[in-house]
This record gives sequence, structure tokens and C-alpha cells, in this order.
Amino acid sequence: MTDPGPRLKQRSEPQRPVPLRDQLPALANKTYFNYGGQGPLPQSSLAAITDAFATIQELGPFSDNVWPYVNRTVTGLRQRLADWFGVAPERLAFTENVTSGCVLPLWGLPWQAGDELLIGDAEHYGVVAALEELVHRHQLRITSLAVADLTGEAEATAEAVGERLEAALTPRTRLVVLSHLLWNTGQLMPIAAVAGQLAAHPGHPWLLVDGAQSLGSLPVAAAAAAADIYACTGHKWCCGPEGLGAVALSSRLLATSSPTLVGWRSLAHDGPGAGGYHGDARRFEVATSCTPLFAGLARSLELLEAEGSAEERLRAIRERSGQLWHGLQRIPGVRSLLQVPPPAGLVSFTMAAPGGAPLDPAAVVGRLGAQGSWLRTLESPACIRACTHLVTTAAEVDRLLDQLSVAAKTAL
Ligand SMILES: Cc1ncc(COP(=O)(O)O)c(C=O)c1O
Repeated sequence: MTDPGPRLKQRSEPQRPVPLRDQLPALANKTYFNYGGQGPLPQSSLAAITDAFATIQELGPFSDNVWPYVNRTVTGLRQRLADWFGVAPERLAFTENVTSGCVLPLWGLPWQAGDELLIGDAEHYGVVAALEELVHRHQLRITSLAVADLTGEAEATAEAVGERLEAALTPRTRLVVLSHLLWNTGQLMPIAAVAGQLAAHPGHPWLLVDGAQSLGSLPVAAAAAAADIYACTGHKWCCGPEGLGAVALSSRLLATSSPTLVGWRSLAHDGPGAGGYHGDARRFEVATSCTPLFAGLARSLELLEAEGSAEERLRAIRERSGQLWHGLQRIPGVRSLLQVPPPAGLVSFTMAAPGGAPLDPAAVVGRLGAQGSWLRTLESPACIRACTHLVTTAAEVDRLLDQLSVAAKTAL
């Protein structure tokens, strides 16, 4: 039997679209502003995951009958994500999270002692730690590209990044690392332009892009297609389950980088002595992973697609982040990190008491959490971050602004 029975067929049929907001149990009992930490999982994505577990048990779990279902689920998501990334599916590898999508292809490149890695100064500490270990193992050098202080308009920011990059590149620069959307300030980096600039540089350094805050929040195709490594996760702005991410890899990287963690899924053929990795990005996949997560992420992406194009979804996100940013400007003692309304959904700010003494971000976040509103602190720079997604309502933003206003007035 290779065809699921009628009951299974009925389960996997697409459901009638229900607006995303109405599908998020996490939003029923709280006001949520941590989409950049983890997105809420829609009910029908959770149902798709449990259905997939059930289907796998009914067909297998390990049997000739189950593989067509597993392959269909994985291939379908690869194609859908490839469309989002603007690349051919052959350039897309599945990973567990953003970090492994950054690290696995990077560690497989042929490094030489003395090579320089130019790293933006607003990168995530987990990715930075992996780069530092790489540096240590191969006697490389890290140099820094200042971008955290670029808090103004998009055009001025892009121009400054271009100038600073030009000044920082040396003949030994082999890699540039930048996030598409900076997780701390919320600023947008001009990734496609950076890729063009690196291509024109004599050494053509690799470009690694951390897309943790971009996939699901803004259109990524131009940037993902231009980078050498563009790593994302499904569990933040895509509202998918935790444990599944994807990385888009350039053709030149695929031709040069060897897999770092090798397993049966890296291989072009099954069986001992079959030899040879996949020629495409699957060489960076390792071994058994959780197929039901693929079904869950596919459903979440479908739900986002039903909300509009990537551009329309970003407009909705920006409407609420703009509302929040403007509201923050009116609260005495509050200082937003960005001097202009955010280019996407990340809004970071500091707070001070009426006398001017800084308020402890952790104390503010704790107090608001006790009132049912969830934000987070960031360590560097020390601040509070609130995220708005397309499901965020104007009333939620108003309530948050009221709560922050009271916290600032009463110094908690
Ligand atoms: C910019 C950035 N990079 C990397 C990570 C780590 O993500 P993951 O756990 O999916 O590797 C995060 C998580 O918050 C992040 O914001």
C-alpha cells in the first residue's frame, strides 16, 4: 500500500482558511510582543504536526509505504521555501535552526591561517561564538564592521554600510557576516548591495547572512539569492514549530564547501560505499529529522501567504511597529534605539525614571509580564525589545503604551 486510506486523505486536505489571528491560542490569554524570540504556533499547524505523526504511524513508521509521504512532505516544503527565498530548491538545505544553518556550511570552507572575518558589531552572540571558535581552530583574524550605531533612514544607512565596508575590506578579508535585520536595533541591512560590493572586490569574500529576524517578517528573496549563506528558522516570524530551519547557499559555496556534519542524508545514494555527497544543498543535511515539523511549518507558511504578499505583510507589521515607535516618542524618559519608524517589526528602547535615572529593563519586562504583556530584555545594548507582527492589533499597542507610560511615571 502506498496510498493513504480515505481517513488519512481526509486528514491531509487543506483546511478552509481561518484568519491567522484567530488560530493562535498563545494570543488568547496574553498580549504578546516576542515574535522575534519565538512566534506563536497556529492551531492548524499544530494539527498538521499531530496529523503527520499519526499518518507516519499508520503507514509505517519504517516501511515502503511511508517514504512517498515523507518525501512529498519534505519536497513540498523545500519548494515552498525556495519560492520564499527566491532560489532554486537545489540551493536550499534544511537545518534545525538559524545557528546550524550559519555554522555548517561555513565550517566546511577552506580556511587559511591569516584569513580575516569581517563581522558586523550587532550580530547574535551564538553566531559570534561559532565564528570565534573557527578563528581559534584555523588561526584566522576577526575584524569588526560598525553598524549598531546606524539608527537613521534606510538610504543613509545603506550608504554608510557601503562606505564602511569599503574602508574595512582588506586583501585578507575572506568572509563578511551581517544580519539582514539587526536583532537589537531593528535596523535593516542592505544585503543585496553588500553582496554586489563583495563581488566587485578582488578577493570576493563570502557573505554570510543571519536571517533570523527576516524570514516571515520582510521580503527576503533579493537578499537570500545574493548571499552565499542565508540562514533562517521557521520558529520566529514564520510562526512554525521550533526545531526546523533552512539555509540558502550560493552555487559557488556549494562547489567549494564540504559538509561539516556528515550523515546518510548528505549522500547522493543509499548504502555503504555508495560514495559521494549530494551535488546540491542536501549535502549539508545530516540524518533523521522530524517530518511532522515540516508539515507544521508548511501550514504556517500557507497561513502567512493567505494574509497577503511579503510586501503586504511587511506593511501590516510596520503599521503596528510605527504606531508603537510614535507612541514611545511621547512617553517621557523613553528613548527608542532607532531615530526613525522601524523598517520592520523590531522596536527597541530604553527607559528612565522622571529624575533621569535609567530603569532596569528586566524590572520593566517583569512588571509588564505580570500584567500579561510579554516583551524581552537585550543585553547589548541594555534595552527592552517589543516586536509587532501582522497579527498585532492597534489596541494591543495602545495597551502596551499605557502600561509603559505608567511604568515610566511611577519608576515602576
Ligand atoms: C539574529 C539572531 N541570530 C540567531 C539566533 C539564534 O536562533 P536559533 O536558535 O534559531 O539558532 C537568534 C535568536 O534569537 C537571533 O535573533
